[in-house]
Amino acid sequence: MTETIDPNEPLLRVADLTVEFPTDDGVVHAVRDLSFDLKPREVLGVVGESGSGKSVSSMAILGLLPRSARISGSISYRGQELNGLSYNEMRKFRGNSVSMIFQDPMTSLNPVFTVGAQLSEAYLEHHKVSKKAAWAKAVEALEQVGIPQPDRRAKQYPHEFSGGMRQRVVIAMAIINDPDVIIADEPTTALDVTVQAQILETLLRIRDDTNAAIIMITHDLGVVAGMVDKVQVMYAGTVVEAGTVDDVFDAPRMPYTVGLLGSNPDPSLIGQKLTPISGAPPSLVNLPTGCAFSPRCPLVAPVCHESEPDLLEIGGAVVHHSRCHRWNDLAGYEDPKKLFARKEIGAEEPLAALLIDNPEVVVEEHLADSGDKKEAAS
Ligand SMILES: Nc1ncnc2c1ncn2[C@@H]1O[C@H](COP(=O)(O)OP(=O)(O)OP(=O)(O)O)[C@@H](O)[C@H]1O
Ligand code: SF4
Ligand SMILES: [Mg+2]
Repeated sequence: MTETIDPNEPLLRVADLTVEFPTDDGVVHAVRDLSFDLKPREVLGVVGESGSGKSVSSMAILGLLPRSARISGSISYRGQELNGLSYNEMRKFRGNSVSMIFQDPMTSLNPVFTVGAQLSEAYLEHHKVSKKAAWAKAVEALEQVGIPQPDRRAKQYPHEFSGGMRQRVVIAMAIINDPDVIIADEPTTALDVTVQAQILETLLRIRDDTNAAIIMITHDLGVVAGMVDKVQVMYAGTVVEAGTVDDVFDAPRMPYTVGLLGSNPDPSLIGQKLTPISGAPPSLVNLPTGCAFSPRCPLVAPVCHESEPDLLEIGGAVVHHSRCHRWNDLAGYEDPKKLFARKEIGAEEPLAALLIDNPEVVVEEHLADSGDKKEAAS
């Protein structure tokens, strides 16, 4: 990044992004009204169950979705609209301005070329330099991601690297053109915990060295707690809660987030996974009327079936957002993880099931004593 960047101006601004896939079974509403911004050096964590639209929204940002995808809304990079650019027009931005690290390193690496050749080629895509200079840059990138003996390693093929080292090569590929935004789609899931920690450390160091912003898609609460500035919780293709880690983890204002946090009261360990919530996410072809989480929500009330809540600003240091008609009811709880004490909350419909497998929550205790409910906010 050679240009001057205003640290307060978003590098990336996604507004009302919607992605639909027409299929024989109907239209898949994969991403719905997704909005967020990303400033230089910010690390945004994106969490949510499988199928919630995390990868599709990233692919939309990079212009990598299949032609069948119908994309609307805005994806603006430093004020320039990217939505609507052709695959070729997007080449100028891909890698150079916004780059992506995929979960499976072999998606990004070609087994028949040396890693040095592949890194050089990625550099030459955006720079008019000699092959020798590009090779030197490849070696430098390997060094930057912590690969020992980068001169020698550059001449090797991907299969000669361990899983962790291979993922470092993929990171080298993602950073070789000095992007402003790095999207890491579950970059460590396949790796053991120690290697995961090293890879994450490497990414944060790269952020410090280059001022790149990072979008970190993960199922791992430890990663979110330890690494990100802001967190965005996705459900059924859209953001249902967003804010700082402290806001979202310590004061969740959307029952789905409470469910994800579930029995992980201390998500400080790398490797701590999200807790699955009982029931399945809705079909993205036939979404429920009203709130998409309503079939699984212990707080569901008639209003939830009438309209899908907007993503509302509900306060917080950075601005905490929730997409829930009843966020204020949750706010009345000292410990929202205990929201399953249905009577206290005053839900009007029977609680179908305790949706979170959390042995720490003793329902009867709260039914009998509502002492921890604070005065409801006005
Ligand atoms: N080309 C496509 N055609 C039809 N549906 C698609 C297509 N690509 C993705 N989808 C659907 O879009 C939805 C969102 O998928 P996406 O890959 O973004 O989920 P995800 O949140 O990344 O999940 P995971 O955590 O498993 O990676 C899914 O229901 C998926 O089946
Ligand atoms: S809007 Fe209603 S159904 Fe949806 S999460 Fe909030 S309380 Fe639950
Ligand atoms: Mg994905």
